[in-house]
Amino acid sequence: MIVAIDGPSGVGKSTVGRAVAAHLGLPYLDTGAMYRAVGLAVLRRGLRLPLADAAEVGRIAGALDVTVTGSATDGRTFLDGEDVSADIRSPEVSRYASAVAAVPAVRRRLAARQRELALAGGGVLEGRDIGTRVVPEADFKFFLTARPDVRARRRWEELHAKGTPQPLERVLAETVARDRADETRADSPLRCDESYRVVDTSELSAREVVERLLAIVAGAAAGG
Ligand code: DC
Repeated sequence: MIVAIDGPSGVGKSTVGRAVAAHLGLPYLDTGAMYRAVGLAVLRRGLRLPLADAAEVGRIAGALDVTVTGSATDGRTFLDGEDVSADIRSPEVSRYASAVAAVPAVRRRLAARQRELALAGGGVLEGRDIGTRVVPEADFKFFLTARPDVRARRRWEELHAKGTPQPLERVLAETVARDRADETRADSPLRCDESYRVVDTSELSAREVVERLLAIVAGAAAGG
């Protein structure tokens, strides 16, 4: 079984995706972590934003070994063998991830790898283009949404809990900027279509979202 979960940043895809995968006994793939790992590598090479040379970014990405472990409980991201799970979560890497995600050569490579993993073992995949490009034939396609202020607050709480607080206005501005970049890039932008089930999570807890998704999956299994 393949479950695609797409939506903008801070909507709760990871929390929900992990729980859904654990309940269904499926591998879990955080595809954003792959873009983040490439973003981190590009940042470490000293390239500045906005990225001026897409060909160079493509070359850097092409030589990297990016591995994301497919476990729902202990997802880790490795860049050329180094565990970068914590490093890829900084606001700076978020900006680089969004920038490298607009480079077609990077998308081609990562999307092909993601598709391979999904077809090999099934799974819950979360990202921006899972249902539109990576596995359009997924058994279930969910599009999570939430108001930008709600998403920014969730992200703000996360940063606070991690001990790296940021002003809320700044988190909101960055959330909106990243949405815009992800929705307007030419290559596989974040886009919802009628093949998705849309779930607005603004007023729901993560647990309620998980229950809703699992009910839809169970309903389909029961023929409903
Ligand atoms: O989900 P996230 O915030 O970890 O994703 C990081 C960036 O990667 C985000 O700005 C959009 C991009 N991304 C993408 O373009 N396609 C995906 N399937 C997943 C993430």
